[in-house]
Amino acid sequence: MKTTKNILKQADFSKEDLLYLLGLKGDERLLLLQKSAEVKKLTVGKKVYFRGLIEYSNKCKKDCYYCGVRASNSQPRRYEIAEEEVLSAAKFAYENKFASLVIQSGERSDEAFVSKIEHLLREIKTLSNNDLGITLSCGEQSTKTYERWKEAGAHRYLLRIETSNRELYSKLHPRNSLHDYNKRIKALKRLRETGYQVGTGVMIGLPFQTLEHLADDLLFFKELDIDMAGMGPFIEHQETPLFQYKDRLLSLKERFELSLNMVALLRLVMPDINIAATTALQAIDEQGREKALKVGANIIMPNLTPIKYREDYLLYKDKPCIDEEAEECQNCLVARIHMAGDEIGYGEWGDSLHYKQRQKQLIIKP
Ligand code: 5AD
Ligand code: FES
Repeated sequence: MKTTKNILKQADFSKEDLLYLLGLKGDERLLLLQKSAEVKKLTVGKKVYFRGLIEYSNKCKKDCYYCGVRASNSQPRRYEIAEEEVLSAAKFAYENKFASLVIQSGERSDEAFVSKIEHLLREIKTLSNNDLGITLSCGEQSTKTYERWKEAGAHRYLLRIETSNRELYSKLHPRNSLHDYNKRIKALKRLRETGYQVGTGVMIGLPFQTLEHLADDLLFFKELDIDMAGMGPFIEHQETPLFQYKDRLLSLKERFELSLNMVALLRLVMPDINIAATTALQAIDEQGREKALKVGANIIMPNLTPIKYREDYLLYKDKPCIDEEAEECQNCLVARIHMAGDEIGYGEWGDSLHYKQRQKQLIIKP
């Protein structure tokens, strides 16, 4: 019979292995978390990289059943951050040696939005002498738009698949062409073809989600050969349709532990990618992000969104840090990272090693 220790010695994991490891509890689970911590040290090392997060706009044309800023929710006041405020957040990131920014937004694809993002990218590049790296997280767009934004200075893109299971995906989204699973997969592929470093991710503990779905998600990431990942627990939001299933969910503690297992396992399955310690983890556990850093994550996204907008960007309930200025947020994170035994890669882009490796192979193999 296979033991946890033996499975953890393997270089590759079958779906059965992943299922087994995902379900571990107690001391056996600690073996997994210790192993992933070791692998992290040996591959990406102790450095944690900052990506200053700007939640640019909560205007969204989509209606995902889990999301607090979905188009049908009339509660949030809809905003776009003023240009000067975006640029001053970018300046803060630059001056504090964050090295990279993430611009996240509700999904829109009208020309006004596309050209605004393009303009902001150019302005940020200019104010930072081309030094700030920029990740975009602005949803599904045409290849042309992806190219324009790349040309303007973005070099990484995050587009979560949310779940790699087609059937579950259709339970989380309206069944129409705006929320089509195939289109999302195609968008991920087009991003790669356009030359971005590509990140994706899933929510953990969704209604109707099984451990088997999560094991498949890990295999999906590997198959897609992603460079970066961001995964976090699903947290029900009262103003969304999925709230009706709140009594069927795993407890918050279980969702949190399962999320850490996913981070740990992804570090084992794809040892050299960048993995974010996501904010949703901290919505459940005060030390959620540090715990994720310990078991494999190496990226943290301090929130640089001006405070007056934050309460309107509540994708889920109990979102932390909604009233801390960028500076406080940074100080708090520095302390947290040191507590987790890591150090901060100030002034370094911290691109995924996986991506660098792939680039090298492209050069060798014409
Ligand atoms: N709980 C947890 N994460 C959520 N997201 C959206 N809604 C929720 C929720 N209720 C995540 C999605 C999305 C990212 C920006 O936020 O994975 O891709
Ligand atoms: Fe905005 Fe899903 S609700 S992208």
